[in-house]
Parts: sequence; structure tokens; C-alpha cells
Amino acid sequence: MDMRISGRRVRTTVFAPRLAALLRDHRGKDLFRLDDDTVGVAGAELSDRILGARAATEFERPTFKPLHGRSIPRADALKSMQAIGRDVRATLKKPIPIEVDLSGPWPHVGHVYLRDLILGNDPRRLRFLMDRVLELTPKLTWTVIATGAMFRLRLQPEASAIAASVAHAAGYHERRYAMGLYRRTAAPVCFTISTLVANALWLGAPFDDDWSNRNILYEALRLLPPSWNMLRNASPEYPALDARIRAKDDVLVLPLLSHRDPALWDDPDEFRPERWNSLNPDQHPGYLPFGHKSERCWGQHMVMPLAEMFLAVLREKGLAVSPQQTTAQVPLAGLLGVAEVRVEPLRA
Ligand code: HEM
Repeated sequence: MDMRISGRRVRTTVFAPRLAALLRDHRGKDLFRLDDDTVGVAGAELSDRILGARAATEFERPTFKPLHGRSIPRADALKSMQAIGRDVRATLKKPIPIEVDLSGPWPHVGHVYLRDLILGNDPRRLRFLMDRVLELTPKLTWTVIATGAMFRLRLQPEASAIAASVAHAAGYHERRYAMGLYRRTAAPVCFTISTLVANALWLGAPFDDDWSNRNILYEALRLLPPSWNMLRNASPEYPALDARIRAKDDVLVLPLLSHRDPALWDDPDEFRPERWNSLNPDQHPGYLPFGHKSERCWGQHMVMPLAEMFLAVLREKGLAVSPQQTTAQVPLAGLLGVAEVRVEPLRA
């Protein structure tokens, strides 16, 4: 898909075939059949009604779904989120080192930078859980956790709050569970934020001076929403809402499509951060980058300031997408984003 950036330049974003087919065949549709027992939903009003019809079950929740068969009680989920929230707040208070170099292949550069910034004083056993190779196979992740949990952890005084919860766990099973929670809460910070910033860079860097970092992010979340689908398993509320949904149908709500619906957006494929000067991201129909208002993402308040911090540094240092790069791939993955953006200093 070719894209003009504020009328200036063309870059080609190559979506994986299944994503491209979704955009080509179903954009602008309210509801459509994906297979014998799955419907896709992209209409703004229907998405709102589906997501508001009932709370997500533990199996539908991306972050706190059961950990190796063990349900995660809400209190444990909250405790982990509070710990990582404390770590992120502490990080945001520190000045950014002047010598930091954010050039290179994104999202990798952002991922490693965030890991070292927030979790840099944690034991290697824990930091390894943020490794990007583990993203590919949950089985490997669990093996690394199970091995790492065999011995007690000793922490430096500067270790993160989320590492402290692992160090306090008593015995092998509790330590393994705590390490699983460490991975579940700390990994999204590194993975999702570096992906979001890489997407923003690809879509619009070098950025116009009058675009605010916040509006750049709202617009990047619209065109390349990292959380591009939300699955709800078949349940009686859905056929009751819409007769086209059958009792056995799972429902896939697709912000990827509603975020580009021509009925909802002017110039839907254009990157125009200034549109957010007059739109309200919390109320715009069909705009669901952080989920539905009834159960919005718990990490949103960490994501936005950390991503804004990145954009501020990148802009300050005059870093942008290499002019040689005119194409980027968007693979089919749980987290939607450009596979690699080459970032380098802008020449005057
Ligand atoms: C670009 C960054 C992110 C985006 C776009 C995003 C998006 C979303 C979306 C769409 C949902 C709703 C899912 C549904 O209803 O099925 C959600 C829920 C949630 N998110 Fe995020 N998220 C991001 C980062 C994070 C981070 C960094 C954390 C944690 C540190 C986090 C923790 C959660 C939690 C705990 C929930 C509630 C449901 C669950 O247990 O998974 N998110 N997020």
C-alpha cells in the first residue's frame, strides 16, 4: 500500500498477504464471514456493542491469560502492573543521557534501549526474558523461565520493582510464576512501545515541526495499530446483538479496518497527525487502539509518555527514516508493525 505523508513523499508499506486481503476485501464493511465459525467485525457501532456486551474472559485477555495453565488472579495482575508502573515512572524522571544513540534498525534499537533503561539493573536471568527471540515461541519462553527459577535471585539495590517481586517469591513454583508475571508485564513495555515508535517513524519521519508527539502517536496507532484485532469467543450475547452472528461463531473485532474506514475518516490512508487537533481519541467512533472504553488497556498510561519520550529524543537528534528505504514489510503477527525501519541522522 503506497502512502503519501502530508502530500510530501511516497513510501510503500507491504502488508502480509492475509492483512492485505482483509484491507482489500472488507474495509468499510460492518460484518463479514471469515470462515465457518468466525466472523469479522469492522463497523464502528457494532464493534462498540460487541466489546461492551460482556467482559473479556481470562483466555481472551492478551496480557494476563493463564500462565502455563494457572489462572492469574486480578490482585496479582494489579500488583505486577503497579510494580512496572513504578519502574516506568522512575525511568521517566531520569534525564536522558546525552550520548544516547537511537540510530539503527527499529524496532530493535528501541526495544534494547527500553530494556536497558528500565530493567538494566536486573539480573541477567530476568533481562533475558525480554529477548526478542523468545517472542516467537511461548514454549521456549517457558523453558527459559523454568530453568531460571531453579535458584534464588540476588538483586542489586537499584533493581526494578518488578524484579523485587520475583526475588520475594518463596520456593521454585512461586518463583517460576513470578518470573512468568515479570515476562508478561515487562515484555510488552519493550515490545509494544518500540513497535509503536517504529511505526510512527515509518509513517511520518521526518516529522513536521507543528505536529505534536501525542498527535503523531494517535495517527500511528490509527494506521498501524499494534493491537490490530481483538478476539471474542462465541457466546450467547453476540447472536442476541446481531442475527448474522451464529451461536458457534467467534468474533474478531478489527481496528485495523475500522481505523481506515472511509466513512469514518477523511483521507483514511494518509498520515495526517493534525487531524487530531480537532478529534477526540477517546470518543471517535471505530478508533480502538487501546481497546473498548469498558476495559481499556492497563498499560496505556505508560505507553504514551515513553513513546513520546522516544519521539522527543529522535526529533531532537534529527533522526529519521533513511531516504534509501522506500519499502517496509508488515508481517502477520500478534503485534502489528513494520519489520524493520532504518533510522539515521538527517542530512541538512
Ligand atoms: C502500543 C502499546 C499497546 C497497545 C496498542 C495496547 C492495546 C491494548 C488493547 C487493544 C487492549 C484490549 C484487549 C481486548 O479487549 O481484548 C489491551 C489490554 C490490556 N493491555 Fe495493552 N496495549 C499496549 C501496551 C501495553 C503494555 C505495555 C502493557 C503492560 C505493561 C499492557 C497491558 C494490558 C493489560 C493488562 C490489558 C487488559 C487485559 C489483559 O489482561 O490483557 N498493554 N491493550
